[in-house]
Amino acid sequence: MNTTTITTTTTTTLYSLLPYITSFVFLLLCLEQILYLIKKRQAPGPLLVFPFLGNAISLVRDPTKFWDTHSSISARSGFSVNYIIGRFILYIRDTNLSHLVFSNVRPDAFMLVGHPFGKKLFGEHNMIYMFGQDHKDLRRRIAPNFTPRALSTYTALQQIIILRHLKQWVHLSSSNPDKPLTLRLLARDLNLETSQTVFVGPYLEEEARARFKEDYNLFNVGTMKLPIDLPGFAFRSARLAVDRLAHTLAECTAKSKSRISENQEPTCLIDFWMQEMLKELSAVKAAGEPAPAHTSDAEIGGYLFDFLFAAQDASTSSLLWAISLLDSHPEVLAKVREEVSRFWSPESDELISAEQIREMRYTQAVAREVIRYRAPATLVPHIAMRDFQLTDSYTIPKGTIVFPSVLDSSFQGFTEPDRFDPDRFGEQRQEDQLFKRNFLAFGAGAHQCVGQRYALNHLVLFIAMFSTLIDFKRHRTDGCDDIVYNPTICPKDGCSVFLSRRCTRYPNLSLE
Ligand code: HEM
Ligand SMILES: *[C@@H]1O[C@H](CO)[C@@H](O)[C@H](O)[C@H]1NC(C)=O
Ligand SMILES: *[C@@H]1O[C@H](CO)[C@@H](O)[C@H](O)[C@H]1NC(C)=O
Repeated sequence: MNTTTITTTTTTTLYSLLPYITSFVFLLLCLEQILYLIKKRQAPGPLLVFPFLGNAISLVRDPTKFWDTHSSISARSGFSVNYIIGRFILYIRDTNLSHLVFSNVRPDAFMLVGHPFGKKLFGEHNMIYMFGQDHKDLRRRIAPNFTPRALSTYTALQQIIILRHLKQWVHLSSSNPDKPLTLRLLARDLNLETSQTVFVGPYLEEEARARFKEDYNLFNVGTMKLPIDLPGFAFRSARLAVDRLAHTLAECTAKSKSRISENQEPTCLIDFWMQEMLKELSAVKAAGEPAPAHTSDAEIGGYLFDFLFAAQDASTSSLLWAISLLDSHPEVLAKVREEVSRFWSPESDELISAEQIREMRYTQAVAREVIRYRAPATLVPHIAMRDFQLTDSYTIPKGTIVFPSVLDSSFQGFTEPDRFDPDRFGEQRQEDQLFKRNFLAFGAGAHQCVGQRYALNHLVLFIAMFSTLIDFKRHRTDGCDDIVYNPTICPKDGCSVFLSRRCTRYPNLSLE
């Protein structure tokens, strides 16, 4: 036989097999449809789903529209379903149903995943995947990072960094006064520098900081892409960047351990963490027991990465919405300026103290209202570990990705929820207490955001300094304030503004 005959024979065989292959594929597609419909049952959601990809294309193309549609079709039953890359998903609009998820994070109900492909992206050991006692122990070890004393150490660092960036923004804007300045990436840089400095500041060399920024960027791009873990794909680059970031953070941990063991004063978050942990470790050692879990440099580096991930984009989102909302509510801006001026004058060259931040009640209410009105992490993905009965008539099938919408909850309960109205959180109305159940922007239950006080402090400081030091005007265009997903939400135009200096001179802030 020569080659031609072999090829011909193979081709003939393939041709004769073709009907079988086609029917097999067809069968698989039908099976996929049927399985989807079995899981869907009476729940609102699309009847037919595109093979394999499901509705991934419309999700990636226009997340805002995708989730908006889910919110509206969930109006009656409180939830709805869909299908994305082989995964059945469930969207929750109703606050009480969302609470059912948040309060049932345990191995036989729900697992927080943070991101639909989170495990692939940031590894198995992220604290968000933990359950029960193990998770409680870790949360206990983290608590020293957010005591009032620790927070007040951070406020000084935050203000110095905020000031530096605000000066630079004004410089950029005024050196090109006809062109609006887009703040999204600039605000992200501000936050990245803040979290790096607050978390591990003294232990990051200049070079490490630059690489850090690059890696963080790669990571962020990967969070918005399909999870294709192959060379050349954004998802793979993101995964590798996470490894490098966690490694750098582990090195910082080792340096902090050694500095704190020499009884030096804590100056950043990892120091406060190590201060308590070293006490625990030496007690354990004295008793002749092995070192407890969550205490190695590598593990802590990993948790620090979790902090960074959690801290970064949600915070950026809140700063951008604050600017946009202050611009569209001049009466609120005027009240903020008036309040801040009672406590702080830039000419004093003094830092705003932790006590003063507490006393700026109105500015606090504004920060809280920004977070309510534009909950930065709109959806908090969980995976159903088992079948879970959600309502009398619907059971969530095992393996479903469940998305409680904390954004939807913000618009339930509260009086006139569609109004941006900081006074709702004032002494008189106290809607933060009254509608506590609906304020889900920081989650609820065992995994509720550990950084929320720090995040609110940051937003209050930013609002106070931005409104006091800067005159600003939003560059308003059609739909500029529409919500877009990055994957936390931000104004569609990235928040474009014109800025100029408002104070007679900038304060000279320093740690002394
Ligand atoms: C405006 C800013 C922020 C928002 C809206 C936000 C929101 C959230 C939400 C919704 C969760 C999930 C909660 C749950 O499942 O119940 C969460 C968890 C978390 N957040 Fe935040 N966050 C913010 C800032 C921060 C900051 C600044 C940090 C760190 C300093 C931080 C650290 C964390 C950590 C470590 C978790 C996981 C906790 C756990 O699994 O036990 N967050 N955050
Ligand atoms: C939600 O749950 C709360 C507390 O359990 C209850 O008071 C309220 O009536 C429930 N709301 C709805 C709409 O079911
Ligand atoms: C700012 O303050 C520092 C320390 O308080 C001082 O050394 C420096 O000269 C001051 N800078 C200006 C421009 O006043």
